[in-house]
Amino acid sequence: MTKILAINGSYRNDGVTDQVIEIMAEVMQTAGAEVEIILLREYPIEFCLNCRVCTQKPGEAPGECVQHDGMQKLIDKIEKADGYIFASPTNFGSVTAVFKRFMERLVVYGYWPWGMIAPKDRKANGPKKKAVLVSSCAAPGIMGRLFFSTIKELKMTAKTIGADTVGVLFTGMIAQEEHPKLPDAIKRKAQNLAKKLVS
Ligand SMILES: Cc1cc2nc3c(=O)[nH]c(=O)nc-3n(C[C@H](O)[C@H](O)[C@H](O)COP(=O)(O)O)c2cc1C
Repeated sequence: MTKILAINGSYRNDGVTDQVIEIMAEVMQTAGAEVEIILLREYPIEFCLNCRVCTQKPGEAPGECVQHDGMQKLIDKIEKADGYIFASPTNFGSVTAVFKRFMERLVVYGYWPWGMIAPKDRKANGPKKKAVLVSSCAAPGIMGRLFFSTIKELKMTAKTIGADTVGVLFTGMIAQEEHPKLPDAIKRKAQNLAKKLVS
């Protein structure tokens, strides 16, 4: 059975990000996939310590972190999944702080012994999985895509864990009401991207 892992970096229940992921999950489950959603706002992840212990040993498998929080379990889920949704609202022009904290802990996917100036992606030459990226912002979508770095950061996340980006859903002008509801056009796009992820 195809396993899809959705990593959600939104801060609030039933916001735009939650709604997009729910719609996508429904389509993928109907298609027979197993979908797990990780809400980073509720998930125990500490900040990276920059000790680089996890980056010292070579090999394709992610290194092991010295911290015993929820991250190792999440890495296991990432390794077992066949496809991903990486989602974060745009806050101050980039991914949210909880998403960035998760992203920095993905340093386990780099082989970076002391003395080497930059890490080597452990998954650089392996088979590629699929990822769909989801973000939103208060500004018009075109401005968001041109001036904000959220999609670039979500793309870097996908690349780090060994996935190619097969679709992007970026919703602009979405913060005009306290409880925004997704426009039908966005719902349809989310459904199409979900089909692409499990096809
Ligand atoms: C702290 C904060 C910073 C934000 N920064 C931006 C921004 O730089 N540009 C923008 O267009 N929208 C910004 N927004 C609006 C959010 O992007 C928007 O409310 C969010 O995409 C909705 O996602 P959610 O419903 O999952 O929370 C910001 C919102 C917050 C709370």
